[in-house]
Amino acid sequence: MMSGMGDRFFIEGGVPLAGSLAVRGSKNAASKLMVASLLTDQPSTIENVPMSVEIDITRELCEKIGSTVSAVGDYEIRIVTPKVTTSLVPELSRKNRIPILALGPLLHRAGVAEVPVLGGCPIGHRPIDFHVAALREMGVEIERREHSYYAEAQEIRGADIAFPWPSVGATESVILAAVLAKGRTRIENAAVEPEIMNLIEMLCAMGAKISVREAKRSIEVEGVLSLGGARIRVMPDRNEIVSFATAALATGGSVCIENIEDWYLKTFLSHLDAIGAGYEKEGSGMRFFKKGPFRPDSIRTEPHPGFMTDWQQPFLVVLTAAEGISIIHETVYEDRLGYTEDLRRMGAYIEVSGVCPVGSECRFFGGGYKHVARITGPAKLKGTRIRIPDLRAGMAHVVAALAAQGESVLEEIHHLDRGYEKIDERLETIGARIRRVMDGE
Ligand code: EPU
Repeated sequence: MMSGMGDRFFIEGGVPLAGSLAVRGSKNAASKLMVASLLTDQPSTIENVPMSVEIDITRELCEKIGSTVSAVGDYEIRIVTPKVTTSLVPELSRKNRIPILALGPLLHRAGVAEVPVLGGCPIGHRPIDFHVAALREMGVEIERREHSYYAEAQEIRGADIAFPWPSVGATESVILAAVLAKGRTRIENAAVEPEIMNLIEMLCAMGAKISVREAKRSIEVEGVLSLGGARIRVMPDRNEIVSFATAALATGGSVCIENIEDWYLKTFLSHLDAIGAGYEKEGSGMRFFKKGPFRPDSIRTEPHPGFMTDWQQPFLVVLTAAEGISIIHETVYEDRLGYTEDLRRMGAYIEVSGVCPVGSECRFFGGGYKHVARITGPAKLKGTRIRIPDLRAGMAHVVAALAAQGESVLEEIHHLDRGYEKIDERLETIGARIRRVMDGE
């Protein structure tokens, strides 16, 4: 759903959420599966694709390149790219971070490629130096232009790549280039997020040869000559699960999220144990509920299997209600705590500093980045007017507004529509008093 820039949410807080709801497929997996389909002229079918704006943006990219994307049923698409009609797409919107991942597939299909400089959420510098350095090691020539990256490769070769940090995007870039490369690629210090496993599952179904040693953060890809189409199901969106679960907890409610498994939520669940929040299996889903006062917690965001950086924002809202002092140490993005200023205006006690709890062990040590939040609870939140700065911060604001007394007005909700399908309508089904007001109304 495309929202107007002036669309906003009115939320009347203080109502415990109750009921059950379904989780959509992960946008951060689905968009990569769409890019993987570009590696072949054969059709692929992708099930459980969410209807978020991020997917529309990725679809625009694929169609520009020559793909035909058709809806097969609810949440299912067929995507086929018989011929790459153009691999030079520098003028495409810079609204998400997917185009750089298409470099490998486009180079395999066309030998040259040009993609826009990345967009996405303003949460840190977000360079792509690891992608560029790794692709260069694989024989790709890359040139940074004013608004794009231009790349050429006669042949992509396997290489030994060791990342300085387990970057999700850079790991995906290399895998997507390595599956059809000449020879073997070894990635050390690779990201091993479940969404990457979903991508590997699709690539293997297409005929790729990939082996993963998750505990060692090591991925090995043996290049093959060609790939075919595949049928694949997008895994559930872990960020949606955490968003709904924290909304249930922060409002003192009880919500069951259908059809989810606990293996990709382990670290989140261990922090629910730490704060004394309730969760239990219910059929094929899981119920999240408040069972008493929350205890404070100390969290450090990290690559999988650590606590995800995308979870800290709504979780922080729950910690504002905990009895005592909690710490959130953000180690993935250097600038992802700006939203706490709005929570302070709502009545939360939060101090943000650059003082790393682990000193020089932290990758942001000494950089002057305000990446540590100290939350003193319990606080009673009250509604206010908020301008949403980015997707996950926006979810913290939604959760805070649902928990607060009184009305909140959330502006710039297009950030939320990029990552969540009809979030207002779905929250309404579990009792939220949330109303979308369109631009101009
Ligand atoms: N990094 C570099 N150089 C690179 C690549 C990454 O320094 O070449 C650094 C980044 O600056 C950052 C860290 O490595 O400090 C992690 O970045 P990563 O590459 O892992 O993130 P990403 O692939 O750009 C994806 C998700 C993010 C999610 C992160 C971490 C997508 C489209 N985005 O980003 O999701 O936070 O992994 O799990 O998959 C979101 O959904 O709201 C979102 C931001």
